[in-house]
Amino acid sequence: MKVLITGSSGALGTSLKKSFKNAFCPRHGKMDITDADEVSKTILSYEPDVLIHAAALVGIRECEENKEEAWLTNVEGTQNIINALIKSGNNCYLIYTSTACVFAGEHKKYYTEDDTPSPKNYYSFTKLCGELITRQYKNTCIIRTNFAPKEQWEYPKAFVDRFGTYLFADNVAEGIYEIAEKKEKGVIHIAGDKRISMHELALLAGSKNVGKMTMADYEGPPLTIDMSISTKRWKKYKIK
Ligand SMILES: NC(=O)c1ccc[n+]([C@@H]2O[C@H](COP(=O)([O-])OP(=O)(O)OC[C@H]3O[C@@H](n4cnc5c(N)ncnc54)[C@H](OP(=O)(O)O)[C@@H]3O)[C@@H](O)[C@H]2O)c1
Repeated sequence: MKVLITGSSGALGTSLKKSFKNAFCPRHGKMDITDADEVSKTILSYEPDVLIHAAALVGIRECEENKEEAWLTNVEGTQNIINALIKSGNNCYLIYTSTACVFAGEHKKYYTEDDTPSPKNYYSFTKLCGELITRQYKNTCIIRTNFAPKEQWEYPKAFVDRFGTYLFADNVAEGIYEIAEKKEKGVIHIAGDKRISMHELALLAGSKNVGKMTMADYEGPPLTIDMSISTKRWKKYKIK
């Protein structure tokens, strides 16, 4: 089985490479997803059976401040991939990595695949647009999830009042592998079995000295406060 992974140098991509051992992983410099010709040439010459699209601009503040780049990468980039897959005509199975942040996260928790998205910021909006684009292509699974790499917390503090059913990137990669084996289609949530705060997540990742902060300390683009998701279609994963 020939697998192609975009975004392989990122947090999730690094874990995906461990799960999909012989995957072809063109780096940003080799296949810029905003370059339609480069995407088309790469996909048509490799002819993947499975493509996992994990490349994106993911910083919420970065996307808010660079809307043009966020649009080009997350929306046009996804369209370029779909166009190339349609052109190749070999019915490659596509996994699109989306986010629990397509939901509003207000007055509700444990969103399922049937709930209505309502993005709070530009990043989430572009990820939702990417979902709609991938729906044009029938052999697709849209995966919504929420994760962090299992390593030292990137920031000195973490929210005690922002929640998710978080997983570590390796757990998500394992879930994607299982879904790809079964070639599931439609929307699937890869959710952890516990709703925890970001501060609890930082502790689980091994960052013992991370400080606490609350949403009242935060200044920036609007955020999905409760990112907890559930699933009607798949099993839940234990964060480990
Ligand atoms: N992090 C989360 O909590 C989370 C939650 C749910 C879903 N997701 C989704 O999961 C996916 C992976 O997220 P992540 O946290 O692993 O992100 P990340 O660590 O920031 O990695 C992003 C990857 O995309 C690549 N990339 C960016 N622009 C590109 C372009 N124009 N062409 C080709 N490659 C490009 C980056 O390469 P360079 O570094 O070389 O630019 C990098 O490999 C994304 O689709 C994201 O929306 C993330």
